[in-house]
Amino acid sequence: MPGHHASETVAAAAERRWAIIVIAIIGVLILMMIVTGVHWASMPPSRVEAVDVKTIHIKGEFVESNLGTAVEPDGKVTVRLIAQQYSFVPNCIAVPADTPVTFRGTATDAIHGFVVGRTNANTMLVPGFVSTFTTSFSKPGEQLMPCHEYCGTGHEAMWAHVQVVPRDEFMAKARPGGRMSCVQR
Ligand code: CUA
Repeated sequence: MPGHHASETVAAAAERRWAIIVIAIIGVLILMMIVTGVHWASMPPSRVEAVDVKTIHIKGEFVESNLGTAVEPDGKVTVRLIAQQYSFVPNCIAVPADTPVTFRGTATDAIHGFVVGRTNANTMLVPGFVSTFTTSFSKPGEQLMPCHEYCGTGHEAMWAHVQVVPRDEFMAKARPGGRMSCVQR
């Protein structure tokens, strides 16, 4: 039966064609995985700032005298803070209202984090790394700033306060190079 034989040949050719197409698709997918994997592995995350936990209290940006709120020479406002089991330093942070404020924080022992009241000021604080974000607070007043990463038995009792002060009032108190907080002494 020559007709039967011919259709078998056609079927075999079609099967081979499809096999090649399927192998090609799998090949392209594997290639995509390799290319994206190598691409991500070779690119550093957009911004990583490391800090040495062992010397954090002794030297550099996060020594105790440098913590709190600073008006930088260029007029920008920066808050520097440290989280540790189970408190924030400083534990009362003063910031001006309606002003971009940059937070720079890190942790000394475990992973901590904080959120300021119901604002979008929210970050994790990881030992060995500097977390930073910029936000501004529109409403003057006091906000609670709890730790929101479970960090041990004292986690529930770990919080600070943020006092949002009217801008004029804040700037009147700020001294060049000085560090401000609202910690009761
Ligand atoms: Cu610190 Cu939870």
